[in-house]
Amino acid sequence: MLTGCGKSDDVLVVGTNASFPPFEYVGGASGDEIMGFDIDLAQQIAKDAGKTLKIENMNFDSLIVALNAGKVDFIASGMTITPERQASVNFSEPYYEATQMVLVNKDNNSINSLDDLKDKHIAVQLGSTGDIMAKSYSQQVTAFNSGFEAVMELKNAKVDLVLFDSEPAISFLEKNPQLKMVELDFSPEFYGFAVAKDKVELLNSINTSLSTMKQNGGYDALVSKHMK
Ligand code: ARG
Repeated sequence: MLTGCGKSDDVLVVGTNASFPPFEYVGGASGDEIMGFDIDLAQQIAKDAGKTLKIENMNFDSLIVALNAGKVDFIASGMTITPERQASVNFSEPYYEATQMVLVNKDNNSINSLDDLKDKHIAVQLGSTGDIMAKSYSQQVTAFNSGFEAVMELKNAKVDLVLFDSEPAISFLEKNPQLKMVELDFSPEFYGFAVAKDKVELLNSINTSLSTMKQNGGYDALVSKHMK
């Protein structure tokens, strides 16, 4: 049966931005499969709800708009729970703790404290917490649709640094040995799944799936599978 917005009742649509390894990225044998930690969690959430998961891949800064327009049922995209976002969506219980990380070219030794970020040219992902934070340190911030593009800009020495979430930053480093990371004193961030304000039942079912996975070892198994 089709609902008003063209979605089948037995399908749960998750919105993501698959440029954020190991949480969501494009890969697999076919090279076009969307996979990762968030995707595996989302599969289990759908399964628990008796539904089939459908993945909608889009720009990170479009996700909340798509959610509130009813185009996706929930967001699984390494999205940090922030008070600003909580004004327009509801978040699940936090499911992962992260922090921001600085990536620079290996020969750059000029960044050793948060103060050193002042007026450096910083590349970020558009609409990310890194984007917001970078702007609090510097007037020179360039935002890209993906972390990959930000890293490319850094490799081409067009910017001084990339400010990005820790786990994807580590995974970018593995593929780019000419870069290094600098850990600064950033506060922790907590990722949550986002649902529209009026979808209370879905929020409850996501939280139930999460707590079940945490209790039965399913969550830890996915951490071991995806995290370095
Ligand atoms: N945690 C950061 C934020 O919420 C970045 C998330 C980016 N996620 C992605 N799938 N590209 O803003």
